[in-house]
Amino acid sequence: MANNETAIYPGSFDPITNGHVDLVKRTLRVFGKVIVAIATNPDKDRSLFTLQERLEMVNEVFAEFQGRVMADSFQGLLVDHAERRGATVVIRGLRAISDFEYEFQMAMMNHRLKPQLETFFMMTGESEFYTSSRLVKEVVSLGGDVSGLVPDNVLVKLRNKFKL
Ligand code: PNS
Repeated sequence: MANNETAIYPGSFDPITNGHVDLVKRTLRVFGKVIVAIATNPDKDRSLFTLQERLEMVNEVFAEFQGRVMADSFQGLLVDHAERRGATVVIRGLRAISDFEYEFQMAMMNHRLKPQLETFFMMTGESEFYTSSRLVKEVVSLGGDVSGLVPDNVLVKLRNKFKL
């Protein structure tokens, strides 16, 4: 680990996938702590899992990293939450080139809002390249198998949601 900084990894995590998990584990090689910050917006909430369920899944997945990986949630601006938590770096994963424009815009806007907060991009692992929470939900809802793409506890909860 190169430093004692805290990184914040924001997202919807509806649900957390193995792509997210891989990114957190690789972030831990560089930063002392990672906050997995679940963004909530009660006015536009169309998530499959409740906030409580998402927090639980993240906590279960990273139970072995207690003290270094923390799950929490926030409403409002990410930059404000990062400041409240003492995070100096935002982590985001890049999959295909199609992610780039959206991510670039967010990073620029966050930089404008809080220039001292850096955004670090990491390439997702090759086996997670095509995985997204949205696709995982769609495949499971249509009876497809996503084992290996999400942690085991998430797989069980996904199947329960869709009563499979
Ligand atoms: O998993 P997602 O949906 O790609 O995550 C997007 C997220 C939560 C990182 C982004 O929407 C966000 O930061 N929301 C918090 C509100 C905010 O700060 N908006 C301005 C971003 S430039």
